[in-house]
Amino acid sequence: MENEIVDIYDISYEGSGVGKLDGQVVFVPKTLKGEKVEISIIKKNKSFLLAKLSNVLNPSAERIEPRCPYFEKCGGCDFQHCSYQHERELKTEILRKEMSKIGYIGDISYQESKNRFFYRNKIKLEFFNGELGYFKSKSHSFFGIECCPIATEMINKSIPVVKRFISSNDCFGLKSVYFKQLQNNLSICFLFDKKIVKSAQKTIKNLKNIEIFGDFSIYFAFGEILESDSTKIFCVKQGKCLKQIYDGITFEFDVSSFNQVNDEIAKKLYDYVASKVEGKRVVNAYSGQGLLTYILSQNAKFVYGIEYQKSAHMSAEKMKEQVQDYKIENICGKVEEEIAKILQRDKIDCVVLDPSREGCENSVLNEMNQSEIIKVVYVSCNFSTLVRDLKILKDFYDIESVKIFDMFPCTANMETVVILRRKV
Ligand SMILES: C[S@@+](CC[C@H](N)C(=O)[O-])C[C@H]1O[C@@H](n2cnc3c(N)ncnc32)[C@H](O)[C@@H]1O
Repeated sequence: MENEIVDIYDISYEGSGVGKLDGQVVFVPKTLKGEKVEISIIKKNKSFLLAKLSNVLNPSAERIEPRCPYFEKCGGCDFQHCSYQHERELKTEILRKEMSKIGYIGDISYQESKNRFFYRNKIKLEFFNGELGYFKSKSHSFFGIECCPIATEMINKSIPVVKRFISSNDCFGLKSVYFKQLQNNLSICFLFDKKIVKSAQKTIKNLKNIEIFGDFSIYFAFGEILESDSTKIFCVKQGKCLKQIYDGITFEFDVSSFNQVNDEIAKKLYDYVASKVEGKRVVNAYSGQGLLTYILSQNAKFVYGIEYQKSAHMSAEKMKEQVQDYKIENICGKVEEEIAKILQRDKIDCVVLDPSREGCENSVLNEMNQSEIIKVVYVSCNFSTLVRDLKILKDFYDIESVKIFDMFPCTANMETVVILRRKV
């Protein structure tokens, strides 16, 4: 297809530059406002075009050389081609535009990440045609990688070790490899097609070269995704455990459960949420492995944690035992089913909502609206579902403040905390 020339005049909510071609909107990832660029169209939709950047004819003053050798093709990062200051401005502008759709025009504060690179404590590499890598931007085509400059140094150093291990074993059915580092401990989990779980024991017995992993913990999992309760996980080499230290207490973490990906920002996020929670009786909905539940229990009289993933719930229970904190009740179940039961039997002052990217079910938001809860602290990693959910809450709650925590530098993703107070 022939190259076209467009002027980039805006930024989309996904972090792409926006231009116009013959009156039609065209999204061009990895471009900046004010640039004139040469593009090739890769997809035509009824209402917009998607293009690939071929050449920057007139670069923005904000443009810099990306640090990652794969930035141009990789679907992981959106903002390595500008300064960190400009990334902050872009993210704030994106959120401001989205929040204005529900009538919020107030301040948006911002917590920068200390590290723009080597911060991610968790990555998932795809395994395809004998290679480890990622998918290309806006496509399902794969490319192999040697490193990922947003992942921690320890994860980067372990990539060649994993490659050596794969080449000395029969890795039939291997789909992806998960790397997770907490403190100085690394766990690596090889995810295989669930169909071959029958031969798991034989595969594990015949493994070669497992000792090259030193004190890393190695797992083999069989299923669709690692986080699912139906995925079968085997520890094939017990190394050092994943752990998090908070307030001098060491908590063990599970390889298959959720954890925040940027340790420095996670701590700041938890401390901020704790400082905003009000009242004596609190619900921590979508509570994961329970660290935030423990932190909230330091100031509250009683905290309920609700989490549906069994392994995360078990970690939360272990944590509760360890600190002997009987002001906590961890409930293993769906928030949409459990929150109503709690509200029937207890008078709750404040709820923390920290759902996955899909946001909250309407029934959860309706429960909030119909309750006497005075404050809701909504923590979100996806501002599209956040704005959708705020639209429902805003009839009963006023937005007191909005703050971005830059959990995911170099990407258009952001962690946002919205504080809501019940209307009087
Ligand atoms: C974004 S994580 C937050 C976890 C925790 N707040 C933290 O900081 O580690 C969302 C969590 O909600 C859980 N989850 C997702 N949907 C759920 C639902 N409908 N009911 C209960 N838990 C859910 C996920 O398993 C995950 O642990």
